[in-house]
Amino acid sequence: MDQRLLGKTVLVFGGGCCAPGWGNGKATSVLLARAGAKVAVVDINKIAADETASLIEEEGGEVIALTADITKRDQVDIAVSTARGSLGEIDVLVNNVGMVIGGGLERLDVDDWHSAFKTNVTGFFHSCQAVMPAMRKRKSGSVINIGSVSGARQMGIDYPAYAAAKAAVTQFTKSLAVEYAPHHVRVNAVVPGLIHTPLVEASLARLYDGAEINRILETRNAQVPMGHMGDAWDVAEAVLYLASDGAKYVTGIELVVDGGLSCTTR
Ligand SMILES: NC(=O)c1ccc[n+]([C@@H]2O[C@H](COP(=O)([O-])OP(=O)(O)OC[C@H]3O[C@@H](n4cnc5c(N)ncnc54)[C@H](O)[C@@H]3O)[C@@H](O)[C@H]2O)c1
Repeated sequence: MDQRLLGKTVLVFGGGCCAPGWGNGKATSVLLARAGAKVAVVDINKIAADETASLIEEEGGEVIALTADITKRDQVDIAVSTARGSLGEIDVLVNNVGMVIGGGLERLDVDDWHSAFKTNVTGFFHSCQAVMPAMRKRKSGSVINIGSVSGARQMGIDYPAYAAAKAAVTQFTKSLAVEYAPHHVRVNAVVPGLIHTPLVEASLARLYDGAEINRILETRNAQVPMGHMGDAWDVAEAVLYLASDGAKYVTGIELVVDGGLSCTTR
């Protein structure tokens, strides 16, 4: 049995899933619990947080489900202090919340732009500020921010606000990594490529019919050198590695999980 996180407390922002099935945050919460962690699942959607928590409970894990909007600092503070009160000091913070705001430059309005940054970056600033000072004082901790390959290269989709916000996640991560390295707090990014999650299914279902969706999914598979999209467990495994002491000398990296996509010009 994997016991890499035995006795550790993990807080996952965005630990629910937007639809039935396995999203990155849900799989991460469950995998980290399977590795022995006590997990606080935080989500804006109470039903989604409860669903992840009940799966962990069914497997015998220790978990609490909390509701908070990561874009609201007061809600983040309450979630963090409730998690600490129930499960103890936070050893690992996972920032998984992310929102795709589609549309090219002329379709976006400034509110869309701010909203992409609020959810994808400012929220991470809130949770890091709420959690990391205690990690610094204890001289221990691991923070994992979920970025995206779209923050580093063109994906053939017009979403400049999302792409720019995800690029900001990477540099935010590196900056904190250097600031906190002397305090033995590690900060890394997991950078997923094309991952087949309910989020992708739901986004496509809003825009296309069945045949077109299959064609788009086939195109996504063909873009990847490995010939297929990844799944939520691929992302979760990368988070588990960075959360564990096996990565004790690893900070400031972008752990790309993309089947080789970012090595190509496709
Ligand atoms: N699926 C992909 O192809 C892909 C690729 C690259 C990066 N990513 C990144 O992976 C992460 C999410 O993946 P997922 O599969 O878990 O998605 P998901 O949408 O299923 O889960 C994200 C969870 O975050 C919650 N959430 C949304 N806004 C919130 C807020 N303001 N405060 C708190 N919670 C909020 C949602 O309710 C949801 O349960 C995102 O950061 C996304 O950008 C996904």
